[in-house]
Amino acid sequence: MSLLDRFSFFDREVMQDPYPYYAEMRERAPLLWNAPLQAYLVTRYEDVAHALKNPALFSSASPRLGGQPIDAIGTILGGPASPALINTDPPLHTRLRAIVSRAFTPKQISELEPRVRALARELVSGMVRAEEFDFMEGLATPLPVILIAEMLGIEPGRRHDFKRWSDALISVASAGGPGPEARRDAREMHAYMTGIAEERRQRPQGDLISLLVQGSEEQRLTPEEVNSFALLLLLAGNETATNLIGNALHALLTHPEQYDGLTRNPSDCGAAIEEALRYESPVVSALRRTTRPVELSGGSVPEDTMLVLVLSSANRDPRKFPEPDRFDIQRAPQGVLSFGQGIHYCLGAPLARIEAPLALQALVEQCPRLDFAARQPARPDYPPSFGVRGMRSLWLRRGPPASNPPSQA
Ligand code: HEM
Repeated sequence: MSLLDRFSFFDREVMQDPYPYYAEMRERAPLLWNAPLQAYLVTRYEDVAHALKNPALFSSASPRLGGQPIDAIGTILGGPASPALINTDPPLHTRLRAIVSRAFTPKQISELEPRVRALARELVSGMVRAEEFDFMEGLATPLPVILIAEMLGIEPGRRHDFKRWSDALISVASAGGPGPEARRDAREMHAYMTGIAEERRQRPQGDLISLLVQGSEEQRLTPEEVNSFALLLLLAGNETATNLIGNALHALLTHPEQYDGLTRNPSDCGAAIEEALRYESPVVSALRRTTRPVELSGGSVPEDTMLVLVLSSANRDPRKFPEPDRFDIQRAPQGVLSFGQGIHYCLGAPLARIEAPLALQALVEQCPRLDFAARQPARPDYPPSFGVRGMRSLWLRRGPPASNPPSQA
């Protein structure tokens, strides 16, 4: 059986290290039909970038997989919902994006920096009190959730609910799809956000939701649109950033000389995050539907066909990135597709580019020596998914002494 026949996004073994499979696809079948998803997998950089840049040919609206609708928000709520920004095409996308961009200007995001830095330091201090700790639980998970909750103006007391809701939404892209509990969680969040939107419309505060429900009719979101956007922020902005921070640290600790380098030059944390985005993309794929017959390097695709654009593969295409399987924080890669490209380019990228480097920086400053704990499996357990890539836990220990360098995982 060839690698191509064995490949499945839902196979735990395959998804521990899917990169040899992607390499085989790029060489032998850059357009590969995937029967379970009823979609073509597109794996070459050039094809993936082409599709992302041409929304008229490659639509983001009404995506389906395995013949079923996969609009996360609609799917999980069990009925039609206002489509999330990410699942819209122009002209609706143009209108929605203009409104929500008001809350994500470079100035607004850079103003968050002191808060992000303080929060990262506080979380690291708490976490490293123990000699052994779970990095995902101590830093990578709470940092993005707290920040998004603060941006949305959610009471701190609801933060644990927030995390639960976010997990429910993410489960849409996992094997088996959302279970009844996940659906209940999502409905609970929907009800909560509708209440908040109404409250902020009547009594605006300084938060993002207030900004989105203000303005003239064309310039503000309807309550349903606010709901979809808040759900999307949770879906798009939480687990992704958590996974970026976790994947980056894992890559650094398996290349301990590069972690050491950061302890001497913490200002390289931004560069480390850029390379980690390429090397272990937190978002595995983006979905598109063809609006007419199209040609890709692997052949022709009929109209109204689903494509899974495998960002994780495009980022390891040797035609674009020489020696793609080598992790090197000095690489300064250009054109990495982990945040997408074109009109749907990640709205939260500037935020992720603040929170992830500052998380790493807080860690290297307070923990110059760090290693995997004995209980951390040598190969991390990545839950299989075509959507996101990240570890549930990452057990570390402070130390060891300088004479005993951290071992390779
Ligand atoms: C490492 C972290 C992140 C990664 C890897 C990531 C990745 C992506 C990707 C690949 C897309 C494009 C999807 C497509 O073209 O179909 C996207 C869109 C989006 N992301 Fe992110 N994201 C991250 C963090 C965030 C954060 C922190 C937020 C918000 C706080 C956010 C909000 C969004 C939104 C709203 C969109 C939709 C934009 C549109 O459709 O116009 N993301 N993201």
